[in-house]
Amino acid sequence: MSVRKVVVIPGDGIGTEITEVAQNVIKKVAIHNNLKIEFTTAYAGGAAIDRFGEPLPEETLLVAKGCDAVLLGAVGGPKWDDVEPAIRPEKAILGLRKALGLYANLRPIRVSKMLADYSPLKTEIVAGVDVLIVRELTGGIYFGDKCESEMIDGVEQAWDKELYSVPEISRIVRMACEAAAKRKGRVTSVDKANVLASSRLWRRVAGATAKEYNGIELNNMYVDNCAMQMVLAPRNFDVIVTSNLFGDILSDEAAVIAGSIGMLPSASIGDGPGLYEPIHGSAPDIAGKGLANPIGTILSAAMLLRFSLNEEEAAQRIEQAVDKVLANGYRTQDLYRTGLTKVSTEEMGRLVIDQL
Ligand code: IPM
Ligand code: MN
Repeated sequence: MSVRKVVVIPGDGIGTEITEVAQNVIKKVAIHNNLKIEFTTAYAGGAAIDRFGEPLPEETLLVAKGCDAVLLGAVGGPKWDDVEPAIRPEKAILGLRKALGLYANLRPIRVSKMLADYSPLKTEIVAGVDVLIVRELTGGIYFGDKCESEMIDGVEQAWDKELYSVPEISRIVRMACEAAAKRKGRVTSVDKANVLASSRLWRRVAGATAKEYNGIELNNMYVDNCAMQMVLAPRNFDVIVTSNLFGDILSDEAAVIAGSIGMLPSASIGDGPGLYEPIHGSAPDIAGKGLANPIGTILSAAMLLRFSLNEEEAAQRIEQAVDKVLANGYRTQDLYRTGLTKVSTEEMGRLVIDQL
């Protein structure tokens, strides 16, 4: 069996604690499933700004390009809020996505019966939700031309350009259709075609692309309506495919359905090695205190095994171990309630490892 290379980028804030836990989970499952995995640590985000004066050093990009998968914690924090736009910690994530060709961001939101009443939404609305958001990740307004400031007739203005090409749209819609084929076969393509030209192209290409797939039902929905449907009837969705900006916003909204953002994993995949990270941020206020919920990162590690290392069995083993630990009543402080057992970040990791 060949040696698989995983690069761990802890990043900032709670990133260090949660990636350490997730790395230990991978190590245990690797022993169990007889996999050879070699870990390397690299710097990005604020940690890299402090060390090298830039958020995404060439060295980090090089090791990332040469590996099978990247596991990332989170980047950013108030310490770097005032650095110039060109070297903001977020640039590390955007730079990695672009450099690794990670055009698809997969964000699954699943609400188990056990956690349904943690959502601020009514239990009967969220119980049983199982949505996969497929967000385009290397195009659109995030990467279009932009102008930070210009003077037109003595008035200052700034702008960002939203642009999508046919191949960019068709490849992400294909990804969504392929994912839907393994689920309920329903794809909702989200746009703002009543206003935006780029959305009208998106809708046309989405329709044509989905036709290539037998048994896939495609619906188009405006993004404002989708935002509403997401909290009114989230169970009606199967796979959602949308642009970079709309996907960013809708996936934070969808995270609320699951009760705690600390539980949610994500996978960014494309041409090269995949990148796996929890949906939440670096939570500097609780960093280093053992309070962070590592489950989002542990489940991201499961996605890493599934998509980049092709180890479905190992991925499921981790997911089942997490379910078991939750069913046994263990919770980090974000999900703690009377009658349950409160555990630290590290203890949660150990409990999951014990179940593997
Ligand atoms: C996300 C984050 C990033 C994004 C930021 C940190 C650049 O919000 O992954 O959703 O906007 O894509
Ligand atoms: Mn976001």
